[in-house]
Amino acid sequence: FSLPHSIKHLSDSGALSSVPPHYACRDPDAPSDVDPTLEGQIPTIDLSVLTEGDPARRSEMVRQLGLACEEWGFFVVVNHGVPETVREAMFAAAQGFFDLEEEEKAEHSGKHVMDPIRYGTSFNTKVEDVGYWRDYLKMVVHPAFHSPAKPLGFGEVLGQYAACTRVVGMELLRGIWESLELDEGYMNNALGLDACFQVCTVNLYPPCPQPELATGLPPHSDHGLLTLLRQNGVDGLQVKHGSKWVHVKPPPNSFLVNTGDHMEIVTNGRYKSVLHRAVINGRSTRMSIATVVAPSPDTVVEPVAQLVSSERPAMYRGVRYREYLEHQQGNKLWENIVQNIQS
Ligand code: SIN
Ligand code: FE2
Repeated sequence: FSLPHSIKHLSDSGALSSVPPHYACRDPDAPSDVDPTLEGQIPTIDLSVLTEGDPARRSEMVRQLGLACEEWGFFVVVNHGVPETVREAMFAAAQGFFDLEEEEKAEHSGKHVMDPIRYGTSFNTKVEDVGYWRDYLKMVVHPAFHSPAKPLGFGEVLGQYAACTRVVGMELLRGIWESLELDEGYMNNALGLDACFQVCTVNLYPPCPQPELATGLPPHSDHGLLTLLRQNGVDGLQVKHGSKWVHVKPPPNSFLVNTGDHMEIVTNGRYKSVLHRAVINGRSTRMSIATVVAPSPDTVVEPVAQLVSSERPAMYRGVRYREYLEHQQGNKLWENIVQNIQS
């Protein structure tokens, strides 16, 4: 089987009435494992209270943030201060990229998994035996900034979006360290956060003729500390909570945030990396933009000493961030790879 240029190309041709067999990969439990009663219980964090709230309100919000990380690994962030104009411009620019000719986009495809700009389809077509119903564009935006040259103006918009989301990510991290009584300066230093690694991934999920047979992204966890997700008006993100999955319907102008593998590692398992997946639909194109905030690539990350004790020995061995990332990006997605470094 050879993969098409892109799912967009396949879908735009309009000739499909069924999914090619290669894409039949939906997990057997879905969608019967989705529990609609959990939707209303997803925690909400008001970022403005963390940044400008009076001390009592702030410390209550920090407590809620800690609970959200401990019990869900997932929460909705409102009043985050990122202007809607920045979000709209980013989605328009991303659409502009996917609308380029296939040959123009292909300039960024088929490269090494660590290349700073990568366009492709599925997740890692070199090792996967199934295809996922998505196209993506991944860009490393910090500490060095990378952007495709086309469409015109893309880099400027991406630069703004990356800067705004990095501020939100850092503010959340501050609150998270505080919720565990960890010193902020110490954590920034231990994780090299001044030179934090930040990646923006734009996901495009075109309408699918048999959405129940294929998947956008299979259950996986993210590699970084936090992932901040925005989507166009179309739902599709599901997060795992206990043994159930929750279909997320975010309020307008909010970020969906999940904790990643390195949050689990550095907190010695106090805050777990959460499994999530993207489902697709038969009617509308879904677009999401995931921004991962992570330790600096050269940092060896290990559980912070304050959260290690004789009762709770270190659960993970230290691994250089770059090596972890290379391993994660170079393998199949359908795995929770944080287990691989358990000590
Ligand atoms: C992701 O897991 O990176 C993206 C999920 C989504 O598109 O909702
Ligand atoms: Fe993810």
